Amino acid sequence: MTTFVRVCGLSELEEDTPKRVELDGTPVSVVKTEGEVFAIHDICSHANVSLSEGEVEDCQIECWLHGSSFDLRTGKPSGLPATRPVPVYPVKIEGDDVLVSLTQES
Ligand code: FES
Repeated sequence: MTTFVRVCGLSELEEDTPKRVELDGTPVSVVKTEGEVFAIHDICSHANVSLSEGEVEDCQIECWLHGSSFDLRTGKPSGLPATRPVPVYPVKIEGDDVLVSLTQES
């Protein structure tokens, strides 16, 4: 069963500014961009770096350390050095509540 948990308020999110939250001990980066909200695992698949400290552009979040970008919809890296995807999670918006489920989408 998919369980959604409130992680923050929609009004707390700034456009293209990732917000790091923890859900059951799992670090998740919540990003509002292009009219949607996305949730992506907050650790780069290349090394132990927080993706929420990177920049968001064109629906991608960039790892600040070596520059791989991950698609916020699929978690796939667009370029080296990262080769493995990062988990992305389903998001629901209910009023001002942003809810995330740790069920992996892809
Ligand atoms: S740690 Fe993220 S690309 Fe190297």
